Amino acid sequence: MDTRLPRYSFANYYDLIYSWKDYKKETALLRKIIRKHQRSKGKSLLEVACGTGNYIQYLKDDFSIVGTDLSADMLKVARQKFPNIPLIESDMCKVRLNDSFDAIVCLFGSIGYLKTYGNLRKALRNLSRLLNPGGVMLIEPWLRRSTFHAGSPHLNTYSDVNLKVARLCVSRLVRNCSVMDMEFLVAERNGKVRHFVERHELGLFEPKLVLKIMREVGLRAEYMKEGLIQDRGLYVATKSL
Ligand SMILES: C[S@@+](CC[C@H](N)C(=O)[O-])C[C@H]1O[C@@H](n2cnc3c(N)ncnc32)[C@H](O)[C@@H]1O
Repeated sequence: MDTRLPRYSFANYYDLIYSWKDYKKETALLRKIIRKHQRSKGKSLLEVACGTGNYIQYLKDDFSIVGTDLSADMLKVARQKFPNIPLIESDMCKVRLNDSFDAIVCLFGSIGYLKTYGNLRKALRNLSRLLNPGGVMLIEPWLRRSTFHAGSPHLNTYSDVNLKVARLCVSRLVRNCSVMDMEFLVAERNGKVRHFVERHELGLFEPKLVLKIMREVGLRAEYMKEGLIQDRGLYVATKSL
């Protein structure tokens, strides 16, 4: 059986497209925020929607980590990098694990993929069950209606001597979702220029409603305006001891 990734999958180019992102610096901030809010004694951390594991790289020496993600393709890349870390394919709305955790993180807007408040409630209820008393949950949001600019064109590129990748999209607003048909052009040495498209749909959640849901599922919650990256903020939720 051929177990390689389909070559023209976003997962294959994810780390290249985001090679500008400073995961090391963000993780240093993340660690500080966890330390400040965590009241439980342990060092277990669940990263939900861990993707290709770019935060795991900088968290693994301080925490005992489990990663989960919906995408088998993303996890395949992560497993190649971290063969010794448990990485589980699952939907954050349904994930069931035998362990519970001192910290749960869901970063880089991944929560937006839930699209609706109904799914958001399911996921937060589910994740709240997986949090230890005294534990902390950090959720980095996607955009909201007032920060999402429908119709804006976007371009990301990667270039080395053997490979050129361009990702373009013009975002659209459909009901309460930002919809992005991401068009990829990939040129490899001695190959052809390939084109593929992936649709990404992310819900535009309002902080007030997110906080309300967090409280409904039994967490104490606040929204920090200054988060890990500019203009995104961060939800910090804790479970009483
Ligand atoms: C923008 S990527 C972020 C990946 C990683 N956290 C990072 O910052 O590099 C979003 C990730 O969310 C995952 N995802 C989307 N919906 C999900 C769901 N319902 N449950 C778990 N993961 C999900 C995707 O597969 C993807 O890996």
